[in-house]
Amino acid sequence: MRKTKDKGLGLFATKGIEVGAVVIRFEGEVMPHSQCPEEEDPYMLLLSGGYGVIPRNESRFVNHSCDPNCEVFGKYLVATKEIRTGEELTFDYCLLDEGDNYEWKDSWTFECKCGSPRCRKAVDGFLYKPRCKGEAAQS
Ligand SMILES: C[S@@+](CC[C@H](N)C(=O)[O-])C[C@H]1O[C@@H](n2cnc3c(N)ncnc32)[C@H](O)[C@@H]1O
Ligand SMILES: [Zn+2]
Repeated sequence: MRKTKDKGLGLFATKGIEVGAVVIRFEGEVMPHSQCPEEEDPYMLLLSGGYGVIPRNESRFVNHSCDPNCEVFGKYLVATKEIRTGEELTFDYCLLDEGDNYEWKDSWTFECKCGSPRCRKAVDGFLYKPRCKGEAAQS
């Protein structure tokens, strides 16, 4: 974990990570997302069924990118690209499983500084990813 140029703290790979590897598990208290204390709002990871987890390990500091190298499956951050030592670990905060039904909160919106050519300029509203066959049985 270290300071980024303009996104506060971020999490960085200390070794190379292969596609499909679990990078970190979001460890912390699970609660109905509606009960999340306001100061923890930027940190809560939404789970399915109206619940969320307030991360207490280093997963707390994973920043957003519009062209990320990881994706969240349940409580797990998984590499979706090959990641080299020193690269920042990121996921797309806007991606939600199809079927999860959350309302975007204004307080979650911020100007995106991911720097990717595919940057959407703002983190502001959900994008849905289609549910894979068999995934429902595993979650
Ligand atoms: C879960 S925290 C990530 C850790 C955070 N950088 C910190 O220092 O505590 C989420 C917050 O980080 C900042 N952030 C994350 N990704 C960002 C991005 N791509 N551009 C600008 N700010 C970002 C936003 O302030 C966001 O609300
Ligand atoms: Zn961006």
